[in-house]
Amino acid sequence: YLLNNIWEKIDSEEDLTKEELCCLLSLEDPEQLELLYQKADKIRKKYVGDEVHLRGLIEFSNYCRNNCHYCGIRRDNKKIKRYRMEIDEILNTAILASHMGYKTVVLQSGEDMYYTTDKLVELIKLIKSNADVAITLSIGERSYDDYVRFFEAGADRYLMRFETSNPELYAKLHPDSSFENRMNILKWLKQIGYQTGSGIMIGLPGQSIEDLAQDILKFKELDLDMIGVGPYICHQDTPLAGNPNGTVEMTLKVIALTRIVTKNTHIPATTALATLRPADGREKALQAGANVIMPNVSPVKYREFYELYPNKICIRENAKQCNSCIKRRIFSIGRTISKGYGHSLKKKMDN
Ligand code: 5AD
Ligand code: FES
Repeated sequence: YLLNNIWEKIDSEEDLTKEELCCLLSLEDPEQLELLYQKADKIRKKYVGDEVHLRGLIEFSNYCRNNCHYCGIRRDNKKIKRYRMEIDEILNTAILASHMGYKTVVLQSGEDMYYTTDKLVELIKLIKSNADVAITLSIGERSYDDYVRFFEAGADRYLMRFETSNPELYAKLHPDSSFENRMNILKWLKQIGYQTGSGIMIGLPGQSIEDLAQDILKFKELDLDMIGVGPYICHQDTPLAGNPNGTVEMTLKVIALTRIVTKNTHIPATTALATLRPADGREKALQAGANVIMPNVSPVKYREFYELYPNKICIRENAKQCNSCIKRRIFSIGRTISKGYGHSLKKKMDN
């Protein structure tokens, strides 16, 4: 029987074909899904251990020059109130994050050119000299020289999802950028020396099982350090209004297979997944291959406006409340919290 064959291949850590990935992505029987999650959990434990890495997320601006069809902070969404944090406010938030024990801060925003290269270089240097943290940037597409300057200033990591590996679907969703350019940027980032993260959304309108299988193979091909996988959540004030959300189940299947295929990458239990399943979405992800959580540390007054998708969790909570919430969830499933930076396991680094 074909499926038994695939389980054996997973157990002996053989490479899975696209067809085999499609077969696993099509599983629906609860017992077989449980088996898939168990196998991913075992590989997670073997390659990255029981420690969960926490990354403090600072959403510092919701201005964006782009018009991605799925995204709530797209340029043409005139209903949303826009905000920007000033450099000293971002710095103070980063210091607060480090005082809470986070050894990484993720600086995320829309593609907002208000933050010039010089300003960001200054910010990166300030954070590095005032807090003992690794810095991850998640600010979208910039020039090669900008990426070099951010890296030289002290940025350690860069996150940029490719969203889907299907170039036609990518083109339909992204009026301002091309799949080819995004792939080039991911290559640059690695070349410059960043620990590089990418990822996808699950359940995009028009996305097939074959696309998801291809996405997982792409993760491996790109040799990524970090891989974020979250459900697509429909935003009413976008061109995709009225489409169904991605599902928790498909997201967990992709997380599990991403772990099985990529072995020692960092994989977050995403906020989007927790938004669809606040009670235990993150716990489920951590038990199906994930090993990272990105607690929100943004000032409460801005949180509601960073609305990539609706009903986002933690809108009224502050950094401290999210910190204790997340710690409790991690301990409740018998996992531990890392005290190190949680650098890439693919490079020789002092973690
Ligand atoms: N639903 C889920 N995730 C979204 N993102 C943007 N819009 C949505 C949405 N409507 C994700 C994208 C982006 C990341 C920062 O947020 O994958 O890369
Ligand atoms: Fe923010 Fe649980 S993580 S309240």
